[in-house]
Amino acid sequence: MEGKKRVLVVGSGGREHAIIKSLSKSSKVSELYCAPGNAGIAQDAECVDIKVDDIESLVNFAQRKNIDLTIIGPEVALAAGAADAFKSVGLTVFGPTKGAARIESSKEFAKRLMAKNNIPTASYATFTNLDEALEYVRKGKFPTVIKYDGLAAGKGVVVAQNLEEVENALKEMLEDHKFGSDKVIIEEFLEGPEFSFMCFVSGDKVYPLELAQDHKRAYDGDKGPNTGGMGAYSPVPFISPQSYEKALHDIMQPAAKGLVEEGHPFCGVLYGGLILTEEGPKVIEFNARFGDPETEVVLPRLESDLFDFIMAAINGEDFIPQWSHDAVIGVVLASKGYPEAYEKGADILGLDKVNGEVFHMGTSFKDGNFKVAGGRVLMVTAHGEDLPAAQVNVYKEIAAIECPALFHRSDIGKASLKF
Ligand code: AMP
Ligand code: GLY
Repeated sequence: MEGKKRVLVVGSGGREHAIIKSLSKSSKVSELYCAPGNAGIAQDAECVDIKVDDIESLVNFAQRKNIDLTIIGPEVALAAGAADAFKSVGLTVFGPTKGAARIESSKEFAKRLMAKNNIPTASYATFTNLDEALEYVRKGKFPTVIKYDGLAAGKGVVVAQNLEEVENALKEMLEDHKFGSDKVIIEEFLEGPEFSFMCFVSGDKVYPLELAQDHKRAYDGDKGPNTGGMGAYSPVPFISPQSYEKALHDIMQPAAKGLVEEGHPFCGVLYGGLILTEEGPKVIEFNARFGDPETEVVLPRLESDLFDFIMAAINGEDFIPQWSHDAVIGVVLASKGYPEAYEKGADILGLDKVNGEVFHMGTSFKDGNFKVAGGRVLMVTAHGEDLPAAQVNVYKEIAAIECPALFHRSDIGKASLKF
């Protein structure tokens, strides 16, 4: 029925805000809910105070409100079995089951799937014992990559340049249990520019979205610690049509097919975190959900109806999305101190002067003002006829925002001009 659909989006960040803004343009969607959402999302959807891992309450809410479609944003909800719970009571959900989401929640599962399906990726070994891990590293070369085997919000990866850095990382993960479990993966270091390839996936059917590039390091020039992402842009001009075809046919499609063969068919967004090496694109990681902040620059370029696109994917029907030729760049404004400790509560002024789309990642609203309420706080985006034009526009927009408690990178999108 035209204009009568009720949609629930689960999550509370910029990614969910971008999904909501895109759905609010749909002629099919009449009611939009977000659980739990944030102060910015509340301007575009009704926020419901349910935590993303309170699966029982989410299912009850969806049943009570006769929700037609639930889209699950965060990995924690998927890894906890949110999609399984929705499906078990006959609710329509866009997001993989717990079994299929292991492609993100267990790096070892992902690596095995890639080996089985000849998907190009870095060679690796798994360890639970500190001494064995150290012995393995001593025999290999530097840099080398240490990864915690589980969810760590983008912070469980250390690219170590020498043995001392390896020792520190391994001790934190295996002795101090910084992230919880006690398994690490040690991986070959791959070199090249990274890019993000999100595809809607329904069993072995793959619907590619436009490419994007994230900026994971905290500071300009790709310096500083890894973060959840400090900015992004789309499209990605340095990926040739040949590399794109390889990424689709040698990576994304075999991954979807491999999951079907494992008995865990995937329904949702399969995100390939890829790197363009001299030997072609290879996998750094898979995610089982929309990327953040990539979604905030990709969905604004979608000219087709997002609700229709998602429903076509869920039902395995053909759908060819239309994309704008504009470039979009988004810059994250983060709390000073992020990704380590930071303070909350500062007022954010000047948002009313921004013309581009602003996605709220971590804000609250009190006494007439938006306030800092998270590590990543806002993502400001701007369009342009190409990336340099979008870059000029986005930094003009950011200049209107007044909040000394925030910082941002000033080089988002610059890497795209290097290649
Ligand atoms: P991940 O959480 O697996 O995406 O890793 C975070 C970041 O660490 C990536 O975006 C890369 O910049 C870097 N990284 C991870 N694995 C590798 C690798 N094998 N070679 C080079 N860089 C890597
Ligand atoms: N932008 C990386 C991620 O969503 O994990």
